[in-house]
Amino acid sequence: MLTDELRAEVARLKRERDAVVLAHYYVPTEVQELADHVGDSFALARLATTLPASTLVFAGVSFMAESAKLLSPERAVLMPDPTADCPMAHMVRRSTVEAARERYGDDLAVACYVNSTAEAKSWSDVCVTSSNAVRIVSALPQRNVLFVPDRHLGAYVASQVAEKNVILNDGFCPIHRDISAAEVSALKEELPGAPVLAHPECGPEAMALADFAGSTSQIIDAAAASDARDLIILTVDGVRGELERRCAGSGKRFHFPATRPVCPDMARITVDRLVACLRDGTGEVGLPEPAVADGARRALRRMLELGAR
Ligand code: 13P
Ligand code: SF4
Repeated sequence: MLTDELRAEVARLKRERDAVVLAHYYVPTEVQELADHVGDSFALARLATTLPASTLVFAGVSFMAESAKLLSPERAVLMPDPTADCPMAHMVRRSTVEAARERYGDDLAVACYVNSTAEAKSWSDVCVTSSNAVRIVSALPQRNVLFVPDRHLGAYVASQVAEKNVILNDGFCPIHRDISAAEVSALKEELPGAPVLAHPECGPEAMALADFAGSTSQIIDAAAASDARDLIILTVDGVRGELERRCAGSGKRFHFPATRPVCPDMARITVDRLVACLRDGTGEVGLPEPAVADGARRALRRMLELGAR
C-alpha cells in the first residue's frame, strides 16, 4: 500500500529530475500506480518518442529501456534495476538470420519481435510487437518472413497470415511457455463459457484453447469490452491491477492459471528501486556501438511507421 508521503516524494523527485516514469503492465502494481504512463511495449516505445521530459525512467526490462534510448537518444533513460532482462531477447543467433538471407535472397524479410537485443534488431528489416505483428508481417512486400526470436508469436502470426511463408526461430518466453494447457482446461471446466484471453507468447496447446489473442493492452481492452462475468487470462499476472481498475464496479472476475505466471525480471522493478533511481539518477541506459544503434533504430522506426494503431 502506497502512502501519501511516498506518492508526494515520488512526485517531487520526478519534478526535480524533469522525469517521466513509463511502466509496463507486468511490473508490480504499486510501481504501475506511481508511473505517469502504463502500457504495452508498443505504446511505451511510441510514447518514448513524443514525451517532452528530458529523463525517461523505464519500469520494465532492458529491451524496453534500450528501445526508448535508441528512439530518443537525446534523453537520459534510467532503469530502476538494469539487471532486469528478458531471457527471450537473447534467443536468436546471427547465423540463423544469415542462413535465411542466403537461402531466400531479396524475397526475405526479417521481422524481429521487440523482445530482442539491439544487435538482433540491427540484423533485421523491421521490429514488431505482439500488438502489431500480424498487421506488419502481412504488409511486408516479401513472401518469406523469418520471425525472430519468439517461435510462439511467430507461429501465431503464421496462422493469421496464410499468404506468407513464415520461418520460425527457436526462442520462447519461459513464463508464457509454461502456462499449462491442463490448468487452462481445468479452469474452463470450472467456469463453463468463460472466454479465454491469451498472450500469443503462450505455447500452441494453451493457444488452441484461447478465444482471443492479443498484446497485454489488447487483452485488457477485450476484457473490459466483454459481457462475460468470468474471464480466463493467460499472461503474466501483473495485468491484474489494470484489469481490476478498468473493470471496477462491473463484478467481473479474472482467473489466472493455478501456477501463477510471474515474470521474475519484471518483478525486480520494485518501489524502493524506483525511488532510488529517481533520487540518485542511477541505472542509466547507454547506446550500443553506432553501427548497431543505427541498424536497430531503423528497424524500430519502420515498426512505428507501419504499426500505428
Ligand atoms: P506486450 O507487447 O503485450 O506488452 O508484451 C511484452 C512482453 O514482454 C510479453 O511477455
Ligand atoms: Fe520476457 Fe517473458 Fe518476461 Fe515478457 S514475460 S519480459 S517475454 S521473460
